[in-house]
Amino acid sequence: MPEEQDVELEARLEDQERFAPPESFVSQANVSDPSVYETFEEEWPECWEQAADLLDWNESYDEVLDDSNPPFYEWFTGGELNASANCLDRHLDERGDEAAIEWVGEPTDEENRTYTYEELHREVNEFAAALREMGVGEDDIVTLYMPMVPELPIAMLACARIGAPHSVVFAGFSADALATRMNAADSEYLVTCDGYYRRGDPLEHKAKADEGLAGVEHEVSDVVVVDRLGDDYDHPMGENHTAYADLVEEQAGAEVDPVSRDAEDMLFLMYTSGTTGEPKGVKHTTGGYLSWSAWTSRAVLDIKPDDTYFCSADIGWITGHSYIVYGPLALGTTTMMYEGTPDYPEKDRLWEIVEEYEATQLYTAPTAIRAFMKWGSEYPDQHDLSSLRLLGTVGEPINPKAWKWYYKHIGDESCPIIDTWWQTETGGMMVTTLPGVKDMKPGSAGPPLPGVDAQIVNAQGDEVEPGEAGYLTVQKPWPGMLRTLYNNDERYIDEYWAEYSDTDSDDPDDWVYFPEDGAKIDEDGYITVLGRVDDVLNVSGHRLGTMEIESAIVGVEGVAEAAVVGGDHEMKGEAVYAYVITEDGYGEDEEMRDRIVEGVEDAIGPIARPEQVVFTPELPKTRSGKIMRRLLEDVANGEDLGDTSTLRNPEVVREIETKVADD
Ligand code: WT7
Repeated sequence: MPEEQDVELEARLEDQERFAPPESFVSQANVSDPSVYETFEEEWPECWEQAADLLDWNESYDEVLDDSNPPFYEWFTGGELNASANCLDRHLDERGDEAAIEWVGEPTDEENRTYTYEELHREVNEFAAALREMGVGEDDIVTLYMPMVPELPIAMLACARIGAPHSVVFAGFSADALATRMNAADSEYLVTCDGYYRRGDPLEHKAKADEGLAGVEHEVSDVVVVDRLGDDYDHPMGENHTAYADLVEEQAGAEVDPVSRDAEDMLFLMYTSGTTGEPKGVKHTTGGYLSWSAWTSRAVLDIKPDDTYFCSADIGWITGHSYIVYGPLALGTTTMMYEGTPDYPEKDRLWEIVEEYEATQLYTAPTAIRAFMKWGSEYPDQHDLSSLRLLGTVGEPINPKAWKWYYKHIGDESCPIIDTWWQTETGGMMVTTLPGVKDMKPGSAGPPLPGVDAQIVNAQGDEVEPGEAGYLTVQKPWPGMLRTLYNNDERYIDEYWAEYSDTDSDDPDDWVYFPEDGAKIDEDGYITVLGRVDDVLNVSGHRLGTMEIESAIVGVEGVAEAAVVGGDHEMKGEAVYAYVITEDGYGEDEEMRDRIVEGVEDAIGPIARPEQVVFTPELPKTRSGKIMRRLLEDVANGEDLGDTSTLRNPEVVREIETKVADD
């Protein structure tokens, strides 16, 4: 398998096949004029007025960009707006009766739910009133630990309405992960849910929330619980816990004036993994972020109000924030939400949904596409997918084979594919083709978006020649960028800027954003992203820090030391490989292995579960005592190890190699 992936990578780099966007698409695209690249470059940063113009402002801004104190950039300064008013109120006159959210639950015998803009507006107001009554004030951070239920976007918009930033914690994360995030954000309010359905079974979520709450170090004043499972789960309620349904009923018909927020006021926090064990609280703002998600939704996803747009991500990740909730709703379209997995009850579930709702766009991840491909084209073939106009992918590099399968079997060779590179920190898409303008090259994300100054540089920060591997950088700020890491300006500079900036300078030209990805660029300016260059793994398009996983493993009784690396994986892209040294007196057996897997699931969640746990008496270390991760990666991938003579303990590598091969 590793060899096969190498071949794929080669193909991704060398086989620069081109596909022109279908004429039928171009003729109706929101953006089809190629001059946009040039004008945005010439008119930068004023070009971003076009993004701000997609929104309604209560107070117009004075300046597009204030770059007087890099890297603490400010966008649309002096402007005021409210995100919930932009996603709801302003659509009521024309689109009040149109669907804002189409929600599909996993059980097929249950009725799906449609929220028109009017209905969504009503419930957001009611819940906003309830939050306010609870004492939630402007700038209080509300944690939302919820699965894919409509009450999640409702809670997000209710928070936005009263100026309370939300911090959504992915429902698949563990109790510990919830506690860590609530502690870091000093969040005193939690909205959660009793549970949800997974592959036909009710999954009890409330117990995990309670366990997380027990780990919160400050007082939590209120917990709101959405009842999703009804009689399937009789969840316990604590003293300060209230049922969501009771709250909105109490507030029936209430209206809450959207708070006018400064453009730079925080809209939300989103915790993501970094190189250290501690997750990073990425801060996004009201004006810049919302402009960015709206503009990219329009230009790249080609969203129009009459569309039924379907993104299969979870709202617990940034993709869902920007491209299920904020971008699509800002544009007044219909956005879909699906609760379950794509293979339940059958492997055609997604295609059934696309057909039934006549979805116009589908935005998903390479890991899902690889699974669809493995299941076979007979599943999409059973359905009429002709409503689709555009396909998208995000989260990790897509191999040309999967790209072509997606293009042919889902898009019927008549939908452009956008391969969108971006990050939690960038707020929205940065590198991808404009589907109404540019040709596509499978395996390559495409050129930077107009107005985005992405360059590939070497270790010294100089631009590399086309074809040469280097590091992806962004040389100019953009409105959707993170503003800082919550309560940690220093780490913000260290993590994203220090590498390529002159940190003593206050000239913005001396500041360069480094996303920690390796990349190449070709003669046409198309960027191929090669993957992370830090100790962060990308498992099924989800970001996991090796340090986080290692500290979870070391927390297991009987573990002395652990090293975690990513190994190539056919479906997940990368999989977690854990090399573990046990303490004397503890066995290297199945029981130990199970406890390690459990330890990781408890600390982070099932997504971080190690694919392989390899027991070893020692870890390969340099003479100075640094763990040689590259070697461990090579072992995981069955690759030739080359010269190991610089190691203090070269013999241990052979030993580990034998064990991995045996497993
Ligand atoms: C990392 C960001 C973007 C929302 C979902 C993930 C990798 C993302 C691509 C792509 C190659 C990609 C990068 C990036 N990545 N999109 N189209 N091609 N790699 O957000 O969890 O913040 O992860 O995902 O390595 O740095 P995230």
